[in-house]
Amino acid sequence: MSSYFFLSLAALLFTLSLLPGSTSLPTSTTTIGATYSSGTAATYAMPPTPEKVAHAVAALGLRSLRLDSSDPTLVRAFLYSNTTLLLTIPNQMVPPLAANRSNALRWLYVHVVPFYPRTKISTISVGNDPLESSPDFSTFLLPAIRNLHLSLRDLGIRKISVSTTFSFISVITTPFPPSSAQFLEPALDTVVRPLLQFLRDTNSSFLVNLYPYNLYKIRSEIPIGFPLFQEHPFGFRDDLTTGVRYRNLFDMMVDAVISAMAVAGYENIPLIVTETGWPSFSTDPTEIDANPVYAELYLKGLLCHLRSGKGTPLRKEGVSETYIYELLDKQMRKGRNWGILYPNLTAKYKYIQFSGSYCRGFFDMLIMAVGQFLVFAFLRGNGSFSLL
Ligand SMILES: *[C@@H]1O[C@H](CO)[C@@H](O)[C@H](O)[C@H]1NC(C)=O
Ligand SMILES: *[C@@H]1O[C@H](CO)[C@@H](O)[C@H](O)[C@H]1NC(C)=O
Ligand SMILES: *[C@@H]1O[C@H](CO)[C@@H](O)[C@H](O)[C@H]1NC(C)=O
Ligand SMILES: *[C@@H]1O[C@H](CO)[C@@H](O)[C@H](O)[C@H]1NC(C)=O
Repeated sequence: MSSYFFLSLAALLFTLSLLPGSTSLPTSTTTIGATYSSGTAATYAMPPTPEKVAHAVAALGLRSLRLDSSDPTLVRAFLYSNTTLLLTIPNQMVPPLAANRSNALRWLYVHVVPFYPRTKISTISVGNDPLESSPDFSTFLLPAIRNLHLSLRDLGIRKISVSTTFSFISVITTPFPPSSAQFLEPALDTVVRPLLQFLRDTNSSFLVNLYPYNLYKIRSEIPIGFPLFQEHPFGFRDDLTTGVRYRNLFDMMVDAVISAMAVAGYENIPLIVTETGWPSFSTDPTEIDANPVYAELYLKGLLCHLRSGKGTPLRKEGVSETYIYELLDKQMRKGRNWGILYPNLTAKYKYIQFSGSYCRGFFDMLIMAVGQFLVFAFLRGNGSFSLL
């Protein structure tokens, strides 16, 4: 009986020692936010008021919010709040912004000037996934970005940076291993390289929507634990070129972007993940991985990983900001639910902490310890346990 007690104690200590260190100081800090799609009657049955959205974001402890269309009433709702906003200019605005700088100035007079700096605004993304838009306006992208940047300078605003947002799948080719990743041609020469030069010149970040879920869906050889941050001794992939070992798909995708930038000749551009998440539901019944258990594992694993301060193998300081897709479940007849909040603004995942520095709460440690104890007890009962 007493050996049984010691065994369980050892199991508990072993478990605790496995938990990523909440005691060691992080070397990287990633700001965690969420994306919010503007609430029209088509998106939400009962669109929440901007004030309610601002309140929900603060209550969750999220430090930043990305707005997909930069509705001025939303920007106004964040006056004097501690939430930093990343604004997005819709794709159809790109050609007019490129055509005439006074259009850029006019956009700023409506969306930024009345509120800034009382509303904190860090970044403006000109377009979202512009390479996928039709008609193709990629030739307008850089002129539009420059016009917006110059207009901000005309207004004496120097602290808001300007960029655009790409989607991983539409801009990166051959992502595995990460060292082989490159930007797709012809976008590399026409759009991406000039953009990277602009980002370097203006000290701005590269923005990317990055979904391990989508890659997992199209790559059947990836085991489910890998995108879900379920570390176990054999769950890794090596990049033989760099000699780096990957234990989750998120890091592999981030490093694929870092590698592609390096290959294009731009190594130290900061990276912001503008969208990432896992669907908790799909109207397609065959999409069995879209469930709340996996969604919660992904979000917990992601937050825990970002807070560990380890960065990624190729970028010790990690990504500078990550926006979870998305804040609120949309109303839909067909598709997936990604929200961390239900449409009535209540939390979907009771045990996820979006703020603070602790990786796992006491509750999780208890559950894990109990799980580990059961495993150890089971192994001992079968006489096959030999670690002690
Ligand atoms: C913002 O943060 C500061 C410092 O942490 C705090 O004093 C202030 O009350 C916060 N404001 C709001 C609106 O939460
Ligand atoms: C830009 O727009 C302004 C105001 O709408 C107009 O006066 C000006 O002629 C336009 N410039 C060009 C180059 O189209
Ligand atoms: C570049 O941006 C970083 C963080 O956004 C800031 O700390 C740094 O001072 C900036 N450098 C220049 C030259 O503006
Ligand atoms: C909010 O919606 C969720 C999901 O539909 C439901 O389970 C919950 O009871 C609702 N909460 C309130 C306070 O209405």
